[in-house]
This record gives sequence, C-alpha cells and structure tokens, in this order.
Amino acid sequence: MRVLGIESSCDETAVAVYDDARGLLSHRLHSQVAMHQAYGGVVPELASRDHVRRLLPLVREALAAAASDRTTIDGIAYTAGPGLIGALLVGAGFATGLALAWGKPALGIHHLEGHLLAPLLEAQAPAFPFLALLVSGGHTQLIDVAALGEYRILGETLDDAAGEAFDKTAKLLGLPYPGGAALAALAEQGHSGRFRFPRPMLDRPGLDFSFSGLKTAALVALRGCTMDESTRADVARGFQEAVVDTLGEKCRRALLETGHERLVIAGGVGANRALRERLLKIVQSMGAQLYFPRPEFCTDNGAMIALAGCKRLAAGMHAGLSLSARANWELGTAD
Ligand code: KG4
Ligand code: ZN
Repeated sequence: MRVLGIESSCDETAVAVYDDARGLLSHRLHSQVAMHQAYGGVVPELASRDHVRRLLPLVREALAAAASDRTTIDGIAYTAGPGLIGALLVGAGFATGLALAWGKPALGIHHLEGHLLAPLLEAQAPAFPFLALLVSGGHTQLIDVAALGEYRILGETLDDAAGEAFDKTAKLLGLPYPGGAALAALAEQGHSGRFRFPRPMLDRPGLDFSFSGLKTAALVALRGCTMDESTRADVARGFQEAVVDTLGEKCRRALLETGHERLVIAGGVGANRALRERLLKIVQSMGAQLYFPRPEFCTDNGAMIALAGCKRLAAGMHAGLSLSARANWELGTAD
C-alpha cells in the first residue's frame, strides 16, 4: 500500500509518499513564512495562490524521489480540514483531480489526525492506545487515542492555543512572526525566577487550558522595565516556564485519569525542547513512555498526511472520490 499525501491547510505546501511496508519514501515542503512575515500573520488569499504555484512541482519532485507513479500509488490523501478554506480547496481539488485521472481513491484527512499519527513516522513508534498532547498554532488539546479514527477530546484551550500564545508573546518581544521557535531560543539565554507568570487553570480540576492571560501578563511585566536584551530573555524564560509547567501538569493528570502508559506530543509547539524535557521527566516518574516526531514532522508536513491516508486505506476507511474541504471540523466527528 503506497499513498501520496498533500498538505495545504495553512502556509506550508507539503507533499510526501508513504509506503506501508517501507515507510516514508520521500517528502517535500515549501514554507510561505517569508511571504507572510511582512503582514505579521498568514494572509489567506496569498496562501491559496502560492499553494497553486507550488503544488504541482512539489508533487513531481516527491513522486520522482520515491520512484513512484500512477502504477505504484494506491491512493491520494489530502488535508480536508480544519484550516483556511481557500488553501484547503487547492489541495483537495488537486488531490481529487489526480485521483480521478489515475482511477485511485482520494482520502480527505483531518489535519489533527495527521499531527497525532506523526510519531508513527519514527522507528520508535507508539502502539495504540495512547494519550496525545496536541500543541500547535491553532490547537491545544489532550486526546485519548483508542485506535485509528477513535479519538476523544479530554481537554482543550478555552481561548488561545499554546502556539498562538508563543507567537503573540514573541511579537511583544519584537520577534518576527511566527516567533515560537525564536522565543524558545531567547528563553534558553534567560534567567529563571526574575519573572513568574501565572499557571492558568492549574488551580481547578479538569483538563482544559487557557493561555490568553499569559501574553497580557508578559505585556504588563514588560511595561515596568526597559526592554534590554537580558529583560527580553528573562521574560521569554518566565513565559516558557509557565506554559511548560501548565502543559506538563495537565499531561500528568490526564495520564493518571486515563491510565495510559504512552504519551505522544504532536504539533508545532512539540518541537520545544524545554517542553520535551519536562514531559520526559513526568512520564519517567510515572513509568510511562514518551513519543514524539522529529522536529520537522512536529510542524505541518506532508508525511503525516500520507501516513494517515495509508493507514486509513489499509483499514478500508475511504470515501472514493468525493471532495471534502472544511474550515471547521472537530476531531472525532464524522469524516
Ligand atoms: O503545527 P504547526 O506547524 O501549525 C499549526 O497547525 O498551527 O504549529 C505552528 C506553531 C506556531 O505557533 C509556532 O510558533 C510554534 O508552533 N512553534 C514553537 C516552536 N516551534 C514552532 N513553539 C514553541 N517552541 C518551539 N520550538
Ligand atoms: Zn498543524
């Protein structure tokens, strides 16, 4: 079973070929970050137009690198949502068009299912069932993953996603969009203890999150100081510690509540080193195991979509040639 995967839900055009027996055969990605940077965020219309320009050359490259063509590809998977509707439609239209021309099934994949399954791209892959912490620019969720397609959301953010909080605080610190990784680098140089920000929602039971107050706390802290290099680094440090403490404690509670022995980290913020180190300590203290994809497969990529498509095709879960693109789509609801 071999599947071509296409991701175009936001500002990355990404394509990959995944083979059930041989694993990932190729992957290609074009990031639009530089194009959107001037606007301080993703401009949806520019994103769609750039996907149109990039998709076909990337598909050609990925197929050639995987020595694959219509005779060896069994299905075409694409991100069907959630995401920017115009951007999604470019990938969905392309994928279903190619599927029709090649006489293969098209598979509309939930973007977050892609992120959840990304650790399966690694040699050290988790077995089902597991607990997943999904932390991206658009989502922060704790998910009980029973099996392929069986997802139950245990907790989620009530306002900003963790990545969004990183990006907004990075902006306050004068870092270019999206500033999550740059803020993390700055935090490495900062001192612990000078700024202590709140740990939102830790004082109450449950597994939900709230991060919007953190950027306000950072703003208030910065107002009282001159913004020199060490202050910026110390604020970054204090902010990151608050996020890591909060995510870590909620993961600990969720592992206790579910009894799961495996924790998966997925999504762009999963690339954060301090978060990984903290979660590793927590799972080790509980006799559990931690799994995460390599950093390039934490952020948006085509490999996770090709893999999810391949697993679904192998399990007989596909909908023929129907085209699906949904800006809003809750994980765990009908596809
Ligand atoms: O999963 P992703 O690529 O896109 C979404 O589906 O949202 O996640 C992107 C998010 C951005 O908010 C980015 O700033 C954040 O992940 N991010 C990080 C790091 N690398 C990326 N946040 C904290 N630390 C990092 N090292
Ligand atoms: Zn994503």
